[in-house]
Order: sequence, then C-alpha cells, then structure tokens
Amino acid sequence: MSSSFFKDKWIWITGASSGIGEALAIDLSSRGALLIISARNTKALQQVAKKCIGKVLIVPLDLSIPEQITIAFQQVKQENIQVDILINNGGMSQRGLVKNTDIAVHRSLLEVNYFGSVQLTALVLPQMLERKKGHIVGISSIVGQFGFPLRSSYSASKHAMKGFLETLYLEENTNGIDVSIVYPGRINTEISKHALDENGNPNANMDESLAKGMDVKICAKKIIKGIEKKKIEIFVGKRELLLLFIKRYTPAIFFKIAKNIKPV
Ligand SMILES: NC(=O)c1ccc[n+]([C@@H]2O[C@H](COP(=O)([O-])OP(=O)(O)OC[C@H]3O[C@@H](n4cnc5c(N)ncnc54)[C@H](OP(=O)(O)O)[C@@H]3O)[C@@H](O)[C@H]2O)c1
Repeated sequence: MSSSFFKDKWIWITGASSGIGEALAIDLSSRGALLIISARNTKALQQVAKKCIGKVLIVPLDLSIPEQITIAFQQVKQENIQVDILINNGGMSQRGLVKNTDIAVHRSLLEVNYFGSVQLTALVLPQMLERKKGHIVGISSIVGQFGFPLRSSYSASKHAMKGFLETLYLEENTNGIDVSIVYPGRINTEISKHALDENGNPNANMDESLAKGMDVKICAKKIIKGIEKKKIEIFVGKRELLLLFIKRYTPAIFFKIAKNIKPV
C-alpha cells in the first residue's frame, strides 16, 4: 500500500483540540495531509496546529449548535476546499446513573455525539457524491456495541452513530463513498475528566482504567491504518475488546460480567 495515501488529501477532523483528534491531526499532517481542525477551544486548536506540519485550517465550532456547523461548512466552502475525508471524532462521555440523570444531559450527549456528526456529514456528502469519492469516518466506541453502567446516553449516541454510518455505507458505497466506524476501547486521554455528570457538570476525574489504556498515538496510528485500508469497522484497544466477542457469542455471560464491573 502506498505511503503517500494521505498526501495532499483534505481531511476534516472534529474534536481535534485534544486526545484522539489531536493525535490524528499530528500524525496525518506528518503524512502530508491538508487539515481542517475543529472543536470549541480555539486556543487549543492553535496549539495543535503548531504541532502539525503543512497546511492547517482552524475552523472552530460547537457540535451542539446547528448554526455554527453550517457557518463552519460555509467557511470551508469559501476556501474552495473539497473535503476528501471527514473524521467525526468530537464527542463527550458521561458518568451518571439513569435514575439520577437530568433529561437535559441525555439530550446534550445526543446533540454533540450524534446530531452534530450527522449534520456535518450531510453537509460534506453532496460534494463527495458529485466527485464520486470521499470517506466518512465516525469515532464510535465499544459501548456503541453494548450498554455499560453510567454511560446510558453516551452508549446510545454511539449506537446511533453506528446505525447511521452503516446505513450510509449501504446506500452510497456503490456511488464512491467509503465509510469507516471506529470502536475504541480504553484510550489514555482526558475524556473522563470532560465527561458530563448527572447534572451536566464536568466529571473532572481521570479514570484509572483509562490512564492504563492504549497510548493515544498508537490508537491514532491504528485508526489511520484502518482508514487507509478502507475498513468498515476498526476496533482499537487492549484486553477490553474481548468484551465484544463475549457479548456477540455468549451474551448471557457478558451481562453477568458487565453487571459486576465496578462502574466509574
Ligand atoms: N478515550 C477513550 O477511551 C475513548 C473510547 C471510545 C471512544 N472515544 C471517542 O473518541 C472521541 C475523542 O475522545 P477523546 O478520548 O480524545 O477525548 P477528549 O480529549 O475529551 O476529546 C474530545 C474532543 O471533542 C471535542 N468536543 C467536545 N464537545 C464538543 C462540542 N460541543 N463541539 C465541538 N467539539 C466538542 C473536544 O474539544 P472542545 O472541548 O475544544 O470543544 C475535544 O477536542 C470521542 O468521540 C469519544 O467518544 C474515546
């Protein structure tokens, strides 16, 4: 496979101000990609851009505000950029029991993790269809394959992304559109600190299990390899990925194990 695969391709990464998005941006830029990086924190995006080689367009947006997504897309269009790969990575996790969680928190998680990505995908898709080429990537989660304590709407939003992107693949792959859905396990980022608690406040704690998770740079490399191979499903993580097989082949055992995992 050619190592120049990403050279001069325009890649739009949401959630590029930290964690997996930042690691993807830095790695892809080293491969010659041209980047559009988005998130809410403009200062953090500027720091990420400094770590990248080559062209980087900073396009701040809040995935929970539809008007901002439309404006961001117009900004990219005005630059006459044809997006080759869209990586829907921006997202927030959750730490809260169903019985205690405010409905606004459930809605907020779906807005950011699902509708934000749906809107951006719908905006870039027509150009891709016109050119009969393009690649839509979504960063779901292993909890997009099964439920997990304290993650009710986070898990729901990641299941929703799976359903949406699998459908997009079935509808448009014969028209030149590739789709990849990424299922990370535990990756060492600060996602648990940014996760919403039952009242919508940041959880502010670093999960021990995440700190022991896969290194974010290794995670980015594995995702990039999967995109290059045009894999529809990309699984990234360590031992926790075993849960996927247990759920698929022995669901009763999965539910016994998952029920007894001490939730954090
Ligand atoms: N780390 C893991 O173990 C893991 C596992 C499975 C899946 N994932 C998924 O991987 C993706 C990246 O997470 P991460 O681990 O890298 O965590 P992270 O460091 O917290 O990154 C989340 C990114 O999303 C952006 N974001 C959050 N809310 C946003 C909003 N309303 N509008 C625009 N951007 C927003 C954040 O930027 P701003 O705050 O600047 O907006 C940040 O750049 C997420 O979709 C997450 O669900 C992570």
